[in-house]
Amino acid sequence: MTERTRPTVDRALCKGHGRCYMVAPDVFDCDDEGFAVVTDDATTPEQIAGLDRAVSNCPEQAISTATR
Ligand code: F3S
Repeated sequence: MTERTRPTVDRALCKGHGRCYMVAPDVFDCDDEGFAVVTDDATTPEQIAGLDRAVSNCPEQAISTATR
């Protein structure tokens, strides 16, 4: 089974800074108001690296991850 990391955005914390979907556009997108939405689990090395960057670059610490 492929290991995958599922990101979650806490909508109460997200302020729409947009760094997550800039550094990991294959994991996150933005809604009509600029808040983050998760579009995919991180499974490829590129997605996992992007997710790591998104987590460390979110000023609100709104992104959490669970590996399964
Ligand atoms: Fe929101 Fe953080 Fe992304 S504030 S838009 S989850 S960088």
